[in-house]
Amino acid sequence: MTERSPKIEVEVSEVTEITPIIKRFRLVRPDGLPLPTFSGGAHVVVEMRDGPTLRRNPYSLMSSPHDTSSYTISVRRDDVGRGGSLFMHSKVRPGDRLVVSHPVNLFAMDHRARKHLLFAGGIGITPFLAMMAQLAQEHRPFELHYAVRSEEQGAYVKELRSVYGSRVRIYRDDQGEAVPLGRLIGNQPLGTHLYVCGPAGMIDWVLSTARELGWPDQALHHERFLAPASGKPYEVVLAHSGITVRVGSHQSMLEAIEAAGVDAPYMCRGGACGQCECRVQSFEGTLLHNDHYLTPDEKASGTKIMPCVSRFEGNSLVLEL
Ligand code: FES
Repeated sequence: MTERSPKIEVEVSEVTEITPIIKRFRLVRPDGLPLPTFSGGAHVVVEMRDGPTLRRNPYSLMSSPHDTSSYTISVRRDDVGRGGSLFMHSKVRPGDRLVVSHPVNLFAMDHRARKHLLFAGGIGITPFLAMMAQLAQEHRPFELHYAVRSEEQGAYVKELRSVYGSRVRIYRDDQGEAVPLGRLIGNQPLGTHLYVCGPAGMIDWVLSTARELGWPDQALHHERFLAPASGKPYEVVLAHSGITVRVGSHQSMLEAIEAAGVDAPYMCRGGACGQCECRVQSFEGTLLHNDHYLTPDEKASGTKIMPCVSRFEGNSLVLEL
């Protein structure tokens, strides 16, 4: 198990409604000292204590990495999700205290790139806001292509246009504007790196188009955090801890393990980083793998599971934890 950095207590200094479903939260240290440094693309895990329930959700840092007097995150309200975003929207106010993890970057920029080509869809814009602030400050070439449903629903559209001008292109779905992906990807200088964050379909489209056009995998970067799926409740036995944990319908296996007092490792909590990987000692039933970290062979072997997003259905599951 890897040792985690100590957590950081922060105060909410500002809550701003950006669109009807997106709020921005500014977080500062209560003692006024600077927060830990981070680089564009990093995220923090925000802990939300809601009565007996403790939720932990990852959010990209969107403020400039050159200013650590505060962190800013944007939260998109999900009315049918498991409650984390609703909690942030309905209960968190300026002056409240929250606990966040140290920043971790699973979507880092490659500084060997001669140019950075960024593709965002919807709330996937947030990591790019920090990246662009960093790239602009460091005088590195970049361009952003940002797909939104409409001008009104696109978060930060006006700010992006006014700060970055022609380095930003907005594509409004309600105006029939589509990202001219093939042309964009096919006309970049050698040494360009591509980054994409947004809905799963957009990520797949951008990556597969780039691969078809011959882009090497090391020049392609994406961030795809999944929300844990809901499902039928089940029990999991932790062999080393000697306890049996019940996982509720709207709870992840990782959340249930944590609620039982076991300190399990994690980093992204979205099936992407591999940090929470657990060895399966035995099972009778079906492992419902939802992550995109394990290979198809690893999933088929039935020896590993990622409890942040994956579930189980059946009679018994024993983990080496
Ligand atoms: S915490 Fe990252 S894959 Fe589970």
